[in-house]
Amino acid sequence: MKPIQVGLLGIGTVGSGTFKVLQRNQQEIRRRAGRGIEIAMVADLDVERAKGIVGEGVQVVNDGRQVIANPAIDIVVELIGGYGIAKTLVLEAIAAGKHVVTANKALLAVHGTEIFAAARAKGVVVAFEAAVAGGIPIIKALREGLTANRIEWIAGIINGTTNFILSEMRDKGLDFGTVLKEAQRLGYAEADPTFDIEGVDAAHKATIMSAIAFGTPVRFDKAHVEGITKLAAADIRYAEQLGYRIKLLGITKRRDDVAGGGIELRVHPTLVPAKRLIANVEGAMNAVVVQGDAVGTTLYYGKGAGSEPTASAVVADLVDITRLATADPDHRVPHLAFQHDALADTPILPI
Ligand code: HSE
Repeated sequence: MKPIQVGLLGIGTVGSGTFKVLQRNQQEIRRRAGRGIEIAMVADLDVERAKGIVGEGVQVVNDGRQVIANPAIDIVVELIGGYGIAKTLVLEAIAAGKHVVTANKALLAVHGTEIFAAARAKGVVVAFEAAVAGGIPIIKALREGLTANRIEWIAGIINGTTNFILSEMRDKGLDFGTVLKEAQRLGYAEADPTFDIEGVDAAHKATIMSAIAFGTPVRFDKAHVEGITKLAAADIRYAEQLGYRIKLLGITKRRDDVAGGGIELRVHPTLVPAKRLIANVEGAMNAVVVQGDAVGTTLYYGKGAGSEPTASAVVADLVDITRLATADPDHRVPHLAFQHDALADTPILPI
């Protein structure tokens, strides 16, 4: 069977990692997907740099609409980021009947409800494993591995930049600004690091996990968001002396104890007892703890940012969609659907 044809929108850090992983592991990927997966077209503003990454065999253009207009493209991978042109192109790709893979947590946390509704109406998939915790397959864990559970709460270190800053400030006594520059140099931080250090990026990711775990629409606007910019080196030192580590946690929790029920959705610096596993997650690593009624506590740990860790998640979604697109429609497993359930109207509680 002809390989499934993929169009990449943006070939920066994650896009080039995706290209490399698909090339390097193409035999295994073909076997697992039941069909080859081929990047047939790339759109990037920097056409020359893109050509340098993908070589001669791949068509490179400077306008994402050309990728969407190409009837040969089955899956569009959006790696542009942000709410602007990325949103327009994702909606256009859906309207054109393409499946979409995206790493864009900001887009999904804010416009996810509209995007998933458009995808459902068109019968295509929007897959987003790479949007939360980079290479950690937390979306698949929530949807598949833990699908038997009533999820009680999720708490995680889901921003590598801020965890790196807090670790370096504690271990090396460096100041905030110096470590932030290093996080940018290492490629952990967003183009505008304000989203990282103010907790917005973590809140985007917590919003997405919350929606999946509790079957609600995405409601980023209701999240409580507090970053690490008000923390001083002395706070970190004092916490240490008292037997705690300060971690920026994204938390979402079912609250059946309040009248009518509700969900907490919050990001803020948190004192974590130093002996807890999550307190010892250092540098740009991510970790997510999920509490389910049947399974109890589970912990997921790994690289939450970076080229190939994030590409690992993008390619996993490409494999999933390839399996789905290749299967007989009557035998498709609807696990990639993003559906709201009975909790759709549950309020996010103020804290
Ligand atoms: N800026 C993000 C982080 C990248 O530091 O975690 C991965 O989403």
